[in-house]
Amino acid sequence: MDKRPVWTSKYAFIVTAIGSAVGLGNIWRFPYVMGQNGGAIFLAVYIILICTICFIPLLNELYVGKLTQKECVGAYESINKNLKPLGALNPVTGILISAFYFIVGGWIINYIFKSFSSAGIKDYGQYFSSFISEPVYPCILTLLFIFLCVFFTARGLKNGIEKANKIFMPMLALILVFLVIISLNLPDAQKGLEYMFKPDFSKLNSHMLLAALGQAFFTLSIGMGALLTYGSYIKEDKTLVKSVYTIILSDTTFAILAGIMIFPAVFSFGMLPDSGAGLVFVTLPKIFSQIPFGNLISSAFFILLFCAAVTSGISIVEGPCATLVERFKISRVKACTILFTIISLIAIPTTLSFGLLNGLKIFDKTLFEFLDFLTSNIMLPLNTLFLCIISGWYLKINGQIIIKNKMSAKLFNFGLKYIVPIALICLIVAGLK
Ligand code: PHE
Repeated sequence: MDKRPVWTSKYAFIVTAIGSAVGLGNIWRFPYVMGQNGGAIFLAVYIILICTICFIPLLNELYVGKLTQKECVGAYESINKNLKPLGALNPVTGILISAFYFIVGGWIINYIFKSFSSAGIKDYGQYFSSFISEPVYPCILTLLFIFLCVFFTARGLKNGIEKANKIFMPMLALILVFLVIISLNLPDAQKGLEYMFKPDFSKLNSHMLLAALGQAFFTLSIGMGALLTYGSYIKEDKTLVKSVYTIILSDTTFAILAGIMIFPAVFSFGMLPDSGAGLVFVTLPKIFSQIPFGNLISSAFFILLFCAAVTSGISIVEGPCATLVERFKISRVKACTILFTIISLIAIPTTLSFGLLNGLKIFDKTLFEFLDFLTSNIMLPLNTLFLCIISGWYLKINGQIIIKNKMSAKLFNFGLKYIVPIALICLIVAGLK
């Protein structure tokens, strides 16, 4: 078995944790969820929630990893033997998330290629739906994306995971800034900014509140053991709280910048911001086709999405990979080969649920919709709920060990025991409706 890895530096840990957080959730999901939930007011609520309620489980997950120095199953087991099955739910969630997340990764690869040859496309909506319903090509791209994420993970913490993040994250930041500048210079760009930053309080409602909470948990990668595993590679860090703030601040900045890149462009071309999941794959390509150097800008945008998706994808694979390596004493390469096979076996029928297997329904949902629903609405919040209860009520973690400030430590304790579990129960109940 490979020796248990540790981060080569604090910077490596922070960049990789940010790489996990900043993903499709920021650039694909955040703008369209915001678009569907009233714009600026959603942003305001989201920022408040992410800095308060979400701070607690994020710090908790990293801390439990650091404390136990074990992968998910081992971490839960070391707290109490009977908790092993709850620990195992984390890597299972990771595998199920990857099966639908990586399909979108495959679509992104297609759009990078298409950026250079989109001249023949007349109707982008039609193009998107006919592409995703094809039986073979999207499957090949999904497999390619799974392979890439698994490949970096198999190379280990230092030579694969850290390296990939150190390359892709700065690239992502550069491309994002470049695209924001272009978007802000489009005619009527200020309409998009107004939509983002001028709140309409009449749009405030409980549905939007829960949408913001769900988005915040998803974007921070809380609830599937990715962060617990990353936390377990920390040997010494007296500034964990600072790291958590850095992760939250960076993730939020990326999400806001993604909004500033997308909404001015959408308004400038008289389009609607609430078109849902198609915003990035239908609305934006339509816009790119109408602006000078559109091909170049389009490829930059999809490369940006690709970087974001790969670094998150790696973190999704790392949780189950560490579990296989440490529980079954096998090498990383072997663990990653097994994971590639399992994820592919779930992802292929899921990819086909847009076409060939469209009729196959679970609770009235296609396989893709079902996996998205099961993981985002139920399993992620449930895993977080379990871990908060275990830390707050069973381990009785005292915030003062982690947080120096007395008042903040007290708030942490209270939040961990009461506020976060209640918020999560509301989220799960609302998600089940
Ligand atoms: N946070 C990632 C994103 O925003 C998604 C993710 C969820 C990654 C859960 C790991 C765990 O896209």
